[in-house]
Amino acid sequence: MTQARQTDYPIDPLFTQRWSPRAFTGEQIPEESLLALLEAARWAPSAYNAQPWRFIYARRDTPSWQPVFDNLVEFNRGWAHKAAALVVVLSHKQYTAPGAAESQPNAWHSFDTGAAWASLAFQATLSGWHAHGLGGFDANGLRASLGIPDDYAVEAVIAVGKLGDKASLPEALQARETPNTRRPLAELVADGRFDFAA
Ligand SMILES: Cc1cc2nc3c(=O)[nH]c(=O)nc-3n(C[C@H](O)[C@H](O)[C@H](O)COP(=O)(O)O)c2cc1C
Repeated sequence: MTQARQTDYPIDPLFTQRWSPRAFTGEQIPEESLLALLEAARWAPSAYNAQPWRFIYARRDTPSWQPVFDNLVEFNRGWAHKAAALVVVLSHKQYTAPGAAESQPNAWHSFDTGAAWASLAFQATLSGWHAHGLGGFDANGLRASLGIPDDYAVEAVIAVGKLGDKASLPEALQARETPNTRRPLAELVADGRFDFAA
């Protein structure tokens, strides 16, 4: 299914095998398996090793599921209801240096938390699961429902599940249910100076 993804340079297939399906089977994920994906996220690099990422997980058929699911936008509820787990990704905006009395703003809280989510997604691929990042949710609703304080940014929600049959999706989504591609590398990198088309 990932054959359509061609790379400009040779890389490990893991990077093209990871993709974000919407058709999930509805199969449950054992807590141990989900924690193993979060373990991969734990080992991401971060500025000052501050590790600003935090994850609130909600497995389907547990009481944790509904408050997270209810805060997804309608479009995402339309397919994510068959995910095995929803993971709310937070980042701590403040950082307390070792030995310091006061915390200070961490300029890299989002950047580093992005690295952690990517690690989770790649580990999911390696472990036979799929992870699909979501930006379509009500952040204030999640804050209120889950008790998330203001000094934590609500970065994303990740749907984790086992790949399902695309026929289970609403018709409009079935055509999009295939790994997409990327801009050419030449559009994304420049030697020594900003040189990108608008
Ligand atoms: C932060 C973030 C937010 C996203 N938001 C949504 C979303 O709300 N709904 C959705 O269906 N897909 C969402 N996606 C999935 C992207 O559309 C997808 O990752 C992108 O098209 C690249 O495809 P791939 O992950 O299959 O390689 C999001 C992905 C990320 C990383």
